[in-house]
Amino acid sequence: MEAISNSAGFAGMGSGRLRGCVLGLLVLLVLSCEQMVVGVDLSDKEQASVARFQEYLKIDTVHPFPNYFPVTDFLIGQAKQIGLDIKVLEYAQAKPVVLMSWEGTEPLLPSVLLNSHTDVVPVEFANWKYPPFSATMDEAGNIYARGSQDMKCVGMQYLEAIRSLKASGYKPQRSIHVSFVPDEEIGGSDGAQKFYESEDFTELNVALVLDEGLASEDNNYRVFYAERSVWWFYITAKGHPGHGSRLLEGMAMENLRISLDKIAEFRTSEFDKVKSGEKAEGEVISVNNVYLTAGTPTPTGFVMNLQPSEAEAGFDMRLPPIVDTDALQKRMDEEWAPASRNVTCRFIQKKGVLNKFGKPSMTLLDELNPWWPLFQESVAKAGGKLARPEIFMASTDARFPRFQGIPAIGFSPMSNTPILLHDNNEFLNVKEYLKGVKVYEQILQSFTSPTEETPSKSSTGAFTETIHSEL
Ligand SMILES: *[C@@H]1O[C@H](CO)[C@@H](O)[C@H](O)[C@H]1NC(C)=O
Repeated sequence: MEAISNSAGFAGMGSGRLRGCVLGLLVLLVLSCEQMVVGVDLSDKEQASVARFQEYLKIDTVHPFPNYFPVTDFLIGQAKQIGLDIKVLEYAQAKPVVLMSWEGTEPLLPSVLLNSHTDVVPVEFANWKYPPFSATMDEAGNIYARGSQDMKCVGMQYLEAIRSLKASGYKPQRSIHVSFVPDEEIGGSDGAQKFYESEDFTELNVALVLDEGLASEDNNYRVFYAERSVWWFYITAKGHPGHGSRLLEGMAMENLRISLDKIAEFRTSEFDKVKSGEKAEGEVISVNNVYLTAGTPTPTGFVMNLQPSEAEAGFDMRLPPIVDTDALQKRMDEEWAPASRNVTCRFIQKKGVLNKFGKPSMTLLDELNPWWPLFQESVAKAGGKLARPEIFMASTDARFPRFQGIPAIGFSPMSNTPILLHDNNEFLNVKEYLKGVKVYEQILQSFTSPTEETPSKSSTGAFTETIHSEL
């Protein structure tokens, strides 16, 4: 998942300094962990699979300055071992997109793309039980590493599933492509965005994309059909300065406070829908005040007897794709930041909620989407359960294909796992990891097996045609 904000993505930067301090400790730990007796039984084949996952996790691709070359070499090695065609595409300097392909027996059929990102968010080294790039497995089989959930697990699970299907002699009818993209955690503009806008992507004739989801704390895998769009904005109130003792009209602080109240009221009404169970968190508009600046600073604090002439508040707002953005904008203009109250609103980021056909950018997972029953059946066959499909609360690279009207499902097969993406001590249990590989084996087989009948194109109008594809 993309960092909550770009700057938040760099929140752990200061801890880079700690790297040197823990280096010695790191070496010691890695050595001792190799000897650790693991309390889970794994076959030789599983052990080899897990070792490859750990090898990937050990490659440091941490922001703010990820070095993508070692990870590219690793992926080239994997593709060669498995026997996949491989291309390294470089749309931005030193930011390679690794594209692997398993050609189907009928390569002209629309293909399936499995996407994952190779980069990871910064870590607070001091707060980790094990070094975050050691991929240490503890006695319970939990593998600790930055990226173990977000989302090196998924990237390797795709490859392990393909490796296993290939070894069994399986031949897909339609082609399967696997892309490993950089920079997702900082917005993907030099990664997924450029890739999805490229000729290379168009040539793949992709009918369906799988990308990341989230871990689930219960037994049901979570699955995502859309995500919320980001609006970052700040509201500035201006007024005349005044003595701290005066009760005056038109003060900046007071005018900003009214804006804050209006926004808080709206926030409460949205939050209430979640609290009452009427809506899931991804289905409402979230708006949070993320900074406040005002006051006249002094070396020891603020001038106390002065009402400042300017005050500002910043907001992170997230919109599900069905939001009427014109109505929301009107509310902002009239209630949150009306010129008549001497407040102005500026956007730092304002992403649309519609795809390029002007329809809500989402992949409906319903009976009209031919991929959905196949997906459900495969997860069930692998012994998994699915939760009700959701809208992702933040951003992922899946927004790029959805924008083009190409169906994209967000899915990271991790059940019974605490949600630790971007958190300290991010881990994934080895059994969950291996179970996920089996899930992908089923999914890939049902997506790419020869079908007797060609499912007919949906006849329910242009709207469904842009969000559903043909098989
Ligand atoms: C807005 O600013 C003008 C000019 O300073 C002032 O006369 C007016 O009272 C202000 N309005 C409000 C609502 O603060």
